[in-house]
Amino acid sequence: MTPCKHLLNVLLLLAAVTVGQTAGGNYAAGSPDADGKYTIAAEGIRAQFIPYGASLTNLFINDTNAVERDIVLGYDNASYYSIDQSHPHLGGVPGRYANRIKNSSFEIDGIEYHVLPNEHNNNNTLHGGPRGWDWRNFTVVAHTTSSVTFSIVDPDGEQGFPGEVISYITYTVTPYQWHIKMVALATTKKTPIMLTSHVYWNLDAFQNPNNPTALNHTLHLPYSGQRIAVDGILIPNGTILANQPGSVNDFWTAPKQVGASFDDPEILGNCGTNCSGYDNCFLVNRAQEGPFDWRSKGPVATVLSEWSGIRIDIWSDQDAFQLYGCGGQNGKL
Ligand SMILES: *[C@@H]1O[C@H](CO)[C@@H](O)[C@H](O)[C@H]1NC(C)=O
Ligand SMILES: *[C@@H]1O[C@H](CO)[C@@H](O)[C@H](O)[C@H]1NC(C)=O
Ligand SMILES: *[C@@H]1O[C@H](CO)[C@@H](O)[C@H](O)[C@H]1NC(C)=O
Ligand SMILES: *[C@@H]1O[C@H](CO)[C@@H](O)[C@H](O)[C@H]1NC(C)=O
Ligand SMILES: *[C@@H]1O[C@H](CO)[C@@H](O)[C@H](O)[C@H]1NC(C)=O
Ligand SMILES: *[C@@H]1O[C@H](CO)[C@@H](O)[C@H](O)[C@H]1NC(C)=O
Ligand SMILES: *[C@@H]1O[C@H](CO)[C@@H](O)[C@H](O)[C@H]1NC(C)=O
Ligand SMILES: *[C@@H]1O[C@H](CO)[C@@H](O)[C@H](O)[C@H]1NC(C)=O
Repeated sequence: MTPCKHLLNVLLLLAAVTVGQTAGGNYAAGSPDADGKYTIAAEGIRAQFIPYGASLTNLFINDTNAVERDIVLGYDNASYYSIDQSHPHLGGVPGRYANRIKNSSFEIDGIEYHVLPNEHNNNNTLHGGPRGWDWRNFTVVAHTTSSVTFSIVDPDGEQGFPGEVISYITYTVTPYQWHIKMVALATTKKTPIMLTSHVYWNLDAFQNPNNPTALNHTLHLPYSGQRIAVDGILIPNGTILANQPGSVNDFWTAPKQVGASFDDPEILGNCGTNCSGYDNCFLVNRAQEGPFDWRSKGPVATVLSEWSGIRIDIWSDQDAFQLYGCGGQNGKL
């Protein structure tokens, strides 16, 4: 079991996207388009989703030159997500347990459970197992012009996890904002649950002729002076590390370009053995300044691209989040 964990029933996340102009688009509530996508829109923002993994496939925002940009990675249609076995968890909700479970085993109330391994020669379980939630089609239970709700019933014993879990994922847009609400109910037994949104962002919509990556985006993590230490296969080892000012993982003392520290020797091994880059769980430390309301405390992360002028501010009620810099991708996708 990882320290970056929650034995809890309810998760709530909020994200907001800034910059854009006006609303628009023709789409029908209650049904998918010819590509199998469900569209929702509000002023300055239009998003598309599919039942597979309750995934975001497209997120359209106008840049500062009024050019509409799709700032997330996704496939053209709903059917291809089930066909592509490379399965990069594009825009979906990994479940019932995002990230890694050491040795694919854990203990609850004296009972040892074994879940299906699927990573590092079957040494651990990633994102809920070989057929975790984002390998399955959720059910669309509601769809209006500005909101869509997906549900999944994960049976007792599925992938080895104890007890049935029922989950609802609701995505809503309001002017210039995307809201993510995740609810999960363990109906019969105690079970580990950790959900997240696994979106690949590129604020230049992969259209920047000088830089196809997000490494030139500026990132600020104002509350993340610490991160969770991991072993060579990214299993938390129980230590919490300081992100020293000026070091590769310092995004808190000042905003910094994502790729700014790639020439620093410390970047090697930062995302596991022989891996250069980021795949790290950053803590979000807000409580030391007293009680806070996460909705008004300010964003836990801000990302911006000078090329497009698009900026995203991310609000969250969670105490940590993972930054993945795509070191495991070869750029082909
Ligand atoms: C981008 O601007 C155009 C023209 O004003 C508008 O029709 C469109 O809806 C905008 N796109 C978004 C995502 O708001
Ligand atoms: C879905 O998208 C894939 C990849 O772009 C394409 O090969 C396939 O023909 C598309 N299928 C449909 C039914 O549009
Ligand atoms: C999910 O739904 C899509 C679109 O209807 C379909 O093509 C695909 O086979 C389904 N995948 C699974 C795993 O059920
Ligand atoms: C790892 O799992 C195996 C069975 O899958 C179990 O026998 C062993 O005790 C576990 N090791 C640790 C360190 O938890
Ligand atoms: C995983 O387990 C196997 C034994 O099953 C072992 O040989 C291997 O070194 C372990 N570690 C990794 C990173 O694959
Ligand atoms: C990266 O961003 C800086 C501005 O911070 C800019 O001067 C530079 O040209 C950019 N490089 C690429 C490859 O986009
Ligand atoms: C965990 O890993 C970090 C380096 O990533 C190391 O500094 C620390 O000593 C390790 N802790 C344990 C308990 O092994
Ligand atoms: C790491 O890289 C070194 C040097 O290329 C290599 O000898 C070693 O086998 C690699 N280790 C793993 C676990 O891939």
